[in-house]
Order: sequence, then structure tokens, then C-alpha cells
Amino acid sequence: MTRSPACGGSSPIAACGGSNLWRQRADVVVIGTGVAGLAAALAAHRRGRTVVVLSKVGDTATFYAQGGIAVVLPESFRDTDDSVDAHVADTLAAGAGLCDPDAVRSIVADGYRAVTDLVGWGARFDESAAGGWALTREGGHTRHRIIHAGGDATGAEVQRALDDAAARLDVRHNHVAVDLMLDDGTVSGVLVLSDDGPGVIHAPSVIIATGGLGHLYQATTNPEGSTGDGIALAMWAGMAVSDVEFVQFHPTMLFDPGSTGRRPLITEALRGEGAVLVDAHGQSVTAGTHPMGDLAPRDVVAAAIEARLTQTGDACVFLDARAIDRLPERFPTVTAACLRAGIDPVRELIPVVPGAHYSCGGVATDVHGRTEVAGLFAAGEAARTGMHGANRLASNSLLEGLVVGGRAGTAAAEHAAHAGPTRVAAAALPARPAVPRAELQRAMTTHASVTRTGDGLAALQEILDGAPMRRLSRRRDVEDAALTTVAGALAAATRARTESRGCHHRADFPDTDPAQAFSRTLVPEVAGT
Ligand code: SIN
Repeated sequence: MTRSPACGGSSPIAACGGSNLWRQRADVVVIGTGVAGLAAALAAHRRGRTVVVLSKVGDTATFYAQGGIAVVLPESFRDTDDSVDAHVADTLAAGAGLCDPDAVRSIVADGYRAVTDLVGWGARFDESAAGGWALTREGGHTRHRIIHAGGDATGAEVQRALDDAAARLDVRHNHVAVDLMLDDGTVSGVLVLSDDGPGVIHAPSVIIATGGLGHLYQATTNPEGSTGDGIALAMWAGMAVSDVEFVQFHPTMLFDPGSTGRRPLITEALRGEGAVLVDAHGQSVTAGTHPMGDLAPRDVVAAAIEARLTQTGDACVFLDARAIDRLPERFPTVTAACLRAGIDPVRELIPVVPGAHYSCGGVATDVHGRTEVAGLFAAGEAARTGMHGANRLASNSLLEGLVVGGRAGTAAAEHAAHAGPTRVAAAALPARPAVPRAELQRAMTTHASVTRTGDGLAALQEILDGAPMRRLSRRRDVEDAALTTVAGALAAATRARTESRGCHHRADFPDTDPAQAFSRTLVPEVAGT
């Protein structure tokens, strides 16, 4: 990866010039409108900075979050023995040795304060009959500590509140970030595609909050915009990404033979309320695998399902939620998704399979979203703070997005306040390797899903090595190039991790190797991009 000082950008083959580009200025540009992006934008705006928010598509992963936000309430507001220590311990256990304990503690301890910000923006959470917030449990949590809204529509409520609060901000729809612009080692803006064609927003602070990468795979719980853009933007700028081999597969995505793209999530909170996983013969799927049974951390449950499917040759297992009281009222989102698929969850078993759900790794940051490049920040699923390690604990993602997003917005505002003027650099749309989407998704699904092997990863690498160059002149081109770059990073990290740990399972290296208890940081040259 070479940087061209003349262009101030990072494209390997871009020509300088671009006189037809539109140009604007802001103090802070935020890429993404989920919980991390809008929390960041609101924090920067509150500090008096001019903020532009780029929205690629309307849908966010935040909107589709069901379970809730894991948060330790102050002692006077709870009747459980929960504590920050207990939440930290559960997070570290799920993370399988790769969390950064200081980062986890910093984020968990700030959770309640961050949730009160959200309440200040208008979010309302479900209450128990006794008063106070109703708390549920999900996989890997030893306590009831998940707050939720509208039953299983927590993300929709969080997004609604944030969208309302952000109505006063400058949010640009149909704006796709194509490249980060760097000038002398600091950020100077973003190259963007919009309905008005390509343009540049010059800014001393840029926050990547683009969400995940689920569309690396044929089926995912993620919205259509989750194409790994943030990780790719960072890598195209020559920056480090960490832990990208750890893609979490949610154990229970609604199964429908042959369906691809975004698929409905069947929230883990159902198991928190007593639903059980069974195979086609009614046998428990998780019996004997983990002391927490169906509420074991996600990697354990997803692996148990995969093992059962391999053993039986069946296409799916089933979630039996029939014993849950008032299921349609408590879980309206799940109920509606099942009914749309012709399944009545009150009377019938719900067919489920593991589905690509969450990227535990991402752009390497501290707990304030700061990256190695001055003025560049990242937060939410696109970032790797050390919170999730090798496997994210359920409902820790909205928490992290909220806490670190807000902090990143504050840090970005402070950086912008003290930065000198950004230079107006030349820029042009770059060309990058891009495997056609369907081919890439097929290869990723076959070779880099829940279980990986060295041979499969070598086959994947061959496809990536043959990627043709594509000029990034449409959103689809940018996304395909981003997916290809991220797949390259994932393939490199996955090949290098010759062990099984957290949500990374190698059939050819089934054991955890204590000597590999470290996060892997890739720089673009190592990832072969
Ligand atoms: C779920 O509701 O099961 C998903 C929550 C999460 O991904 O944290």
C-alpha cells in the first residue's frame, strides 16, 4: 500500500486531478447512522462543531437488534446481585482470552451513564410489574442485566430515539464513503459518492461507524449495508485492523431453505425466557456441551448446532418457544417474522441455523475510538476496542456503540477544535480488486463460516488472488471492493490462527492453543491487499 502525498489519499492507482468533484468542509464527518455513529455525531454537535453524517442506506444493524443492552444498573435500582465485576467477568469469559480487561471495565462501568444519555434522547425501555426496568438474560450472562424495549424491538427503539435527536444534524442520505483522505499522516477528509456524483468533504476529524460485514456471507442477520466498509476504508488508508478472524455466527437465524441476504434473527432472549434448542428428533442440541446449556456463549451454541447438523445430515435444528407465556406480546418481532414465514411460534417449533451476525474485530482503536492516525476515529462494530476478544457477549454491542461512539464524538470534536486548516488535496475515484458478490459470498460461506479448514481457506485465497480490478464509481463497486478487501484480511488472519478459540473454529486445529492467546493485528501488506 503506498500513500501519495500529492493526492493526500491512499489509492494505489488513482490519478490525481478530479476537477469535477464537489467540495465541502466540516469539522467532523461521521460515516454511519447506527448507534455508534449517531451517538458520536450528537456528542460532537453538542460541543459546537459542524458535523456531517453520511448515510449509505436507511437500514442499520442497530435497528434490527432485538435482545437489548447489557447494563449494570446502580445498586439502588436493582434487586439482583449484579455488579460491574460480574459483567466484566462474563465478558472476559465469552471473549476466550482475547479481551482487553481494561477496555472491558472502562466500557462496562460507563454503561449506565451512557444509557441515561439515550433516555435523555427519548428512548423508553420496558418496565417490570414491580416498577423499574425489566431485565432479561442471554447467552453467557450469569445475571439478568439486559434492558429491552417493545419486547424484542430494542434496536428499533434505540434507533428511533437517536434519529429523533439527530433530526437537527446534517445527515446526508445516499452518500457512500469511497476513500479516506490523508495529509501528512493525519486525516483531511473523505472522498464520497452521492447523487451529485463524486465529491470531497474536507474535515480534520472523521469517525468510521459503518457497522459490520455480514454480507460477506450468503445469509446474514445484518442489513444490506453491512459490507465491511469501515475495515476496508481503514485498510485502504494503510491502517491496522485486529481480530478480524472472529466473526460471530448467531446460533438462531430463521431457517428457510435457499433464502439468502438478510434473514430474520430469532433473539437469544427467547432462550433467556426458557426456549430450548432441539433437533428433528426432539433431542437437546446443547446437552453435555457446557454447564450453561442453551444459554452458553454463542460460539459454543453455534458449534453445537453445527456438530448436530453434521451428525444428523439435517438442514436445521429447532427452537421450541411454545412454553413461553405471552410469546406474541413479549416477542412481537420474532412472532411477526415467524408468521411471515408461515410458522406459528406459539404452536410450532421454529427452524433455525447459525447465521453471520457480528464482527468481533475491526479497526484498532482505544476506548475513546482513537486510531493510530490523528483525526481518525472508529466506533461500534467497525472498530476493535478489545471489548469482545474472540467472541462477543450478547447485548454488549449496543452498549459498546453507545459508550465508545459518544466518547469518539467528544474526542473528534476536541481534535477538530485544535487542528489547523485542512489542505484541499486533489482526489479521484480509485480502482480496487473486487470479486463479483455472488462468487465471493459462495466462497466465504463454503470456506470461512462457523468451521474453517486450511484447504478451504487456500481455495478462498485463490479466488481472492484472481479478483479483477474495478473502478469504484457506484455504490455496488465500493461495496464489492470492500467485501473483497475484508475477505482478504479475514482469510489471512484465519489461516494464521492455527487453533480454535471463541467464534473461530478450525476443523484441522480443533484445540485452543495457549501460545496463541493474542490478538492478531494486520497491516494491509500482511493481509495481501
Ligand atoms: C439477540 O437478540 O439474540 C442478539 C443480541 C445481540 O446480538 O447482542
